[in-house]
Amino acid sequence: QVKRRGRRQREGVSQTRFLKRPSHQRRLLRRISLSLGIMESTLKIVCIISALCISMAFAQQGKSKEICKKDDGFFPHEDYCDYYYECVDGVAYVQECPNGLAYSGPGRGLMDKCDYPHRVGCPDPENRRIMGQPAKGSTPCPYLFGIYPHEKSCTRYWLCWNGTGSVQMCPFSLLYNEQEHACDWPEKVPGCQQHPLCKGAPNGLKAIEGSCVRYWQCVGGYPRLQRCPAGLAFDQETFRCDWNGNVPGCEVTPAPEEVDDEAPPVRRSGQNRRVTAAEEEATHN
Ligand SMILES: *[C@@H]1O[C@H](CO)[C@@H](O)[C@H](O)[C@H]1NC(C)=O
Repeated sequence: QVKRRGRRQREGVSQTRFLKRPSHQRRLLRRISLSLGIMESTLKIVCIISALCISMAFAQQGKSKEICKKDDGFFPHEDYCDYYYECVDGVAYVQECPNGLAYSGPGRGLMDKCDYPHRVGCPDPENRRIMGQPAKGSTPCPYLFGIYPHEKSCTRYWLCWNGTGSVQMCPFSLLYNEQEHACDWPEKVPGCQQHPLCKGAPNGLKAIEGSCVRYWQCVGGYPRLQRCPAGLAFDQETFRCDWNGNVPGCEVTPAPEEVDDEAPPVRRSGQNRRVTAAEEEATHN
């Protein structure tokens, strides 16, 4: 009895001790279970992520199948004109056109299967396709490649190649038409600010003070420097080239000694002073 009691007492003592002061082992166990819990939740997250990845991969595979069908090759992007797909072994890889250009198809376009957007019908409101890349250039070339209007002149425009712009002049009497991205007949380019020289005569001839052979031809409000054929002078009254003998002040006079054959005859009337060809060129636009 005594022994038993003693044992119980000892047990009781040990139990209270146990409750009061957790043994080193218990603490260890708790730590292990705690870290196991962390591991478990980490594992859960990993599982969720991998499940997501797998489903995304399947979705991608499905998309690749849909894009590539049975053929390898190049295919337009469904949302963006300046991206396209390249299918290799049934897998679709997204590729991008040079900045500012739009996908035109293999073996076609300006470069790298791409061309100016207006040439391939982009933006395309019907299929809701637009340019997707941000503009990567700077003034005067918002995009690295493209054709852009000149900030001051209607007869010029910018041709941008890899971010470098070069000024282009429209040939003949054409003006740059931004809608067409090309030089166009002046009457088709509304809103083009007119040159002061051509005010009131957007499509006519204007005399140049002091010059016998040169005159302005205004086209769409922009002046073009013109020159009468040899032996003719510009008549300020009839607004046409006439035999210089018929134009007062422009008759050819016997030249004193050495005279530059190239020099045009000059109006000799009092207040008019001689305008050199260089000056005329300088005032031209
Ligand atoms: C454009 O310029 C970059 C460097 O600025 C060069 O690496 C690239 O090859 C050029 N691309 C073309 C098409 O000229």
